[in-house]
Amino acid sequence: MSGRAGIDLYIKSACRVESRLQSRTAVWGRSVLGKPVTDDPDPGHRSRFSSGGSPSTLAICDLKDEKTMNIGTRFAKNVVKSPYRLVRTIQRFMDPAYQLQLQANKSIGAAIPRERIQVLSQNPGQSSDRECRLLAHLAMTADGAGSIIEIGAYKGKVTAWLVEGAERARGKARVISIDPHIFGTWEEYQDTVRKFELESRGLTVHKEMSHDLGKDWQEPISLLLVDGSHEYEDVITDIEDFVPHVLPSGYVVFDDALGEAYPGVTRAIDERMRTREDFEEIGLIKNFAVFRRKAA
Ligand SMILES: C[S@@+](CC[C@H](N)C(=O)[O-])C[C@H]1O[C@@H](n2cnc3c(N)ncnc32)[C@H](O)[C@@H]1O
Repeated sequence: MSGRAGIDLYIKSACRVESRLQSRTAVWGRSVLGKPVTDDPDPGHRSRFSSGGSPSTLAICDLKDEKTMNIGTRFAKNVVKSPYRLVRTIQRFMDPAYQLQLQANKSIGAAIPRERIQVLSQNPGQSSDRECRLLAHLAMTADGAGSIIEIGAYKGKVTAWLVEGAERARGKARVISIDPHIFGTWEEYQDTVRKFELESRGLTVHKEMSHDLGKDWQEPISLLLVDGSHEYEDVITDIEDFVPHVLPSGYVVFDDALGEAYPGVTRAIDERMRTREDFEEIGLIKNFAVFRRKAA
């Protein structure tokens, strides 16, 4: 059994022990205290194991019992959980996706002033701040020989973060943003572009379908974000058009790659990215699937 499989097996058994412990505790709690306070239909009978005394002393007796149970339960839980927590910590530090997000949080926190981060975060958009920080970090560390391509700009939240990251690395970003704005987002997108003066800072805007630009694309790419059409055929087309031009050590990030919400995206990634020998999968970060082209 590999080390990772061993760790996974341990975590599964720790979870099983924990859930058994919880159900035992619940039974124990009922036998010591009667029905738990929260689901007792008749609160007047809470102290059925105490004999006599005023209602207030009975309540105190109950509380004491509860407290004893809580301390015991907490102790037992901690005993079970400590090695589990340790393994989780080790597992996280071995996880390249976790490491990448950690680096991103650190580098963006150090490179971009807090007030600026707040302003960027207030932009309307569909990506979370954590995802935006990750993309800005990838843009900041991207190979200057290639362009940063954003497929699916929506209202420009990610676009602004990409330009912010890219220009900190090289002074002038080369970010290319592609979106036909089929959901009527063109005005709001332009507002973001104007507000952050993105075009004078290195952004090129293409108001068109990704394939219109992608079918003749020949230039090197250092970072590719695929978040346009989520239909299977369109994601495949984006992969075919742009991925071959990604530079060694360059990144490809797919949004909405987690779970069953967008089966077209996950299927295209399974078939056309996870099968590639020239790319390694860094992992899943929030809704992103992150891939890096292997060094030449
Ligand atoms: C999920 S939204 C992008 C969200 C954006 N990345 C954000 O975080 O705010 C998808 C966008 O893709 C655009 N889109 C749809 N089909 C496209 C295509 N074939 N090429 C490029 N963009 C497309 C839509 O107009 C829409 O604005």
